[in-house]
Amino acid sequence: MTEHNSPTTLTQSIRRSAIGLAIFACFTAGLISVTHYFTQDTILANQRAYEARQLLSLLPDGYAAETLLNSARTLDQINATDLSLLHVAGDEHYFRAINDQGQVDAILLPLVAPEGYSEAIRLIVGISPSGAILGARVTRHRETPGLGDQVELQKSNWILQFNGRSLANPLPTDWQVKKDGGQFDQLTGATITPRAIVTALSHGLEFFAVNRTRLLADAVTETEQ
Ligand SMILES: Cc1cc2nc3c(=O)[nH]c(=O)nc-3n(C[C@H](O)[C@H](O)[C@H](O)COP(=O)(O)O)c2cc1C
Repeated sequence: MTEHNSPTTLTQSIRRSAIGLAIFACFTAGLISVTHYFTQDTILANQRAYEARQLLSLLPDGYAAETLLNSARTLDQINATDLSLLHVAGDEHYFRAINDQGQVDAILLPLVAPEGYSEAIRLIVGISPSGAILGARVTRHRETPGLGDQVELQKSNWILQFNGRSLANPLPTDWQVKKDGGQFDQLTGATITPRAIVTALSHGLEFFAVNRTRLLADAVTETEQ
């Protein structure tokens, strides 16, 4: 038997490989930590900028991104009731568009449509003090490309049909897709996704109606301080 094949040499070889691997793993972990440390502020800033762009797209021109982001409050903070209508947790943020006169021009609410085709769909909706939708956007979904994904504004204008709609226009019973006897367009070959979103938006409006005073009065009080 040659020395190369002796058990001692094999053990040494394994030990050397293990040490080498351990050093490499430590080095890699260290590199990742250092990279994370130096990029976390940029990542956070990018996330905030992305969120601000989405929120601003629901509002008329003239609102400052930073002011809007700083208006964030959790739904718990105002003791919102009937949170189950939104299907979001109480520690989720909503935003307020406050104009130069200190008046609230819009409330931007997060909401979830639990009955998406693939899974729950996340949205934000901008609502005026009178309870009309200023705009709605799908912010996260896993609907099928070419079918359910047409609810994204980047893919089609479908989501724009909700602009200006409220619980008085149409009446709550008509907050359904046309296929179910309501007033809203479904998508060709895809009714499940639109159905889920129509329901979620009508529930968002109901939530706003129930909590209107808290959502609006809270901001007015704050600007008077
Ligand atoms: C592979 C596959 C993916 C589909 N993806 C979606 C989708 O993302 N959203 C959707 O509404 N329907 C989707 N559909 C179609 C639905 O199964 C359903 O036929 C359609 O929404 C009409 O629903 P309705 O019969 O309730 O009106 C998909 C169907 C298949 C076969």
